[in-house]
Amino acid sequence: MPSTAPAFSPNVAVVHTVADLRAQVGAWRKAGKSVALVPTMGALHAGHVALMEAARRQADMVVLSIFVNPTQFAPTEDLSRYPRTLEADLAKAQGAGVALAFVPSAADMYPDGFCTTISLAGPALGLETDFRPTHFAGVATVVAKLLIQVAPDIALFGEKDYQQLAVVSQLARDIDLPVTIQGVQTVREADGLALSSRNVYLSPTERATAPVLHRALTQAAKAIAEGAQPAAAVETARVQVTAAGFALDYLELRHARTLAPVASVTEGPLRLLVAARIGTTRLIDNIPVPL
Ligand code: PAF
Repeated sequence: MPSTAPAFSPNVAVVHTVADLRAQVGAWRKAGKSVALVPTMGALHAGHVALMEAARRQADMVVLSIFVNPTQFAPTEDLSRYPRTLEADLAKAQGAGVALAFVPSAADMYPDGFCTTISLAGPALGLETDFRPTHFAGVATVVAKLLIQVAPDIALFGEKDYQQLAVVSQLARDIDLPVTIQGVQTVREADGLALSSRNVYLSPTERATAPVLHRALTQAAKAIAEGAQPAAAVETARVQVTAAGFALDYLELRHARTLAPVASVTEGPLRLLVAARIGTTRLIDNIPVPL
């Protein structure tokens, strides 16, 4: 792959079918180009822009996929109200140097009779799965399809969805997908709130409360790094989040790669992960413990 990207920003072409996608990627491959994939559900924000820019630095051609994947939403979740902002997304993609946007329909991705899903374990167990039991099967299935459809050299995912990144990395390793899965650091508002397409759901009061998540994680990580008992530091963070008005799904200290529970800092590298609801919005966040 080239170490620097060409200095031009091509117009973003949009394709809707796998056949058109493959024709374009095939032409690039014939010309010796490397390819990166940034899979998204649209509603792009600065976190996605960081992914696209990181992709652009590492590959000749960047494919952005935009698909609000129905199979990763439970019937009770926000599929119908999930923000859809295609024109603004394409403008951001163009600014970030994306060459091709793949915007399939649900019927293209899941044609009549589709009945295969990917069964997961390891980093998919617990955390999100305790609250969204079908979520990662939907994510893994669509990501596997996208990785096979695009066949990129590298695919980039935000660390904000840290368990998703661990699940996708494990998936690619386990089924020998010839792709490098790369995590990109979470982009945050000035007050620490992790950027998320779901932040638009927050009322002004909820928005003012939301940075508590990052603050609680940061204080717990610092305390653990300075020698506090992990269990006590985690409990303090849970109390802090709940006292601010969140309904806590989980706040856990885990092994950073396997996501298995850990009892001591010697089992590191470590990651603190949280999911909590405020009003009708569910937010997640995570940070490393600097040991
Ligand atoms: O992180 C997301 O936006 C989605 O879960 C993904 C990876 C695009 C799969 O639908």
